[in-house]
Amino acid sequence: MNLIIFGPPGSGKGTQSNNIINNFDLKQVSTGDLLRSEIKNRTVLGKKIESIINNGELVSDDVVDILIRKIISDPKNFNKLIFDGYPRTILQVYCLEKLLKEFNQKISIVFNLNIDKDTVSKRTSGRVICTKCFKIFNVHFNPPNSINHKCEKKYLEKRADDNSKTILNRYETYVAKTKPILDYYNKKGILIEIDGNQKIAGIYDKMNGILENIRD
Ligand code: AP5
Ligand code: MG
Repeated sequence: MNLIIFGPPGSGKGTQSNNIINNFDLKQVSTGDLLRSEIKNRTVLGKKIESIINNGELVSDDVVDILIRKIISDPKNFNKLIFDGYPRTILQVYCLEKLLKEFNQKISIVFNLNIDKDTVSKRTSGRVICTKCFKIFNVHFNPPNSINHKCEKKYLEKRADDNSKTILNRYETYVAKTKPILDYYNKKGILIEIDGNQKIAGIYDKMNGILENIRD
């Protein structure tokens, strides 16, 4: 099965994707992570998109389409994808539909993790990520400790776009350009709304229960 995890910044897309791939044989596709790795590796693309991401704007659809085509066309990934933070514009939705058709696949479920604007800012401002094991933590809600995190503390970092100005821009971009595409998936009858304000484990249990029922 292929899934989409949808939601505003900080809604828990990455956290829940990480948990789901451990129970189902799926591969997480976070366009944000893919783009950040281009920046970290100082590639030509990375240098072009750094200021766009740090301003909280969207990278162009053409760039994202190329990254996604590579993943969907790879036979190893056939029907095994969780899209986290993709698609983000209606043109990306159409591109995804076209690619899935070309490679004989479909999206089974779109989970929408709903949170309000205040929660967006609390979650993103408290986030720290381990650059070694890639686990996501939060200094307020889910702090790293000796039980849940085995790497040295020096690997824990904040994201460059998790500052108050960029967070606000990211949220506004989400509301203006990304949220409207929910309507497309709602009309297709595959949208499932999840209250993203619940505890991480509670949200996971809910999603897991739904996925167990459609496991192929
Ligand atoms: P991206 O990396 O996708 O960022 P985002 O959409 O803003 O989402 P986040 O990663 O901030 O949040 P999340 O929902 O993954 O939450 P997380 O699980 O980490 O994109 C970044 C940028 O890249 C974009 O702004 C854009 O520029 C570009 N980009 C990416 N994709 C693109 C595309 N398709 N097209 C064009 N441009 C693109 O959780 C957040 C925090 O909250 C963590 O600290 C976590 O521990 C905590 N937390 C999670 N769940 C809970 C909970 N239930 N209770 C309490 N705390 C929780
Ligand atoms: Mg994320």
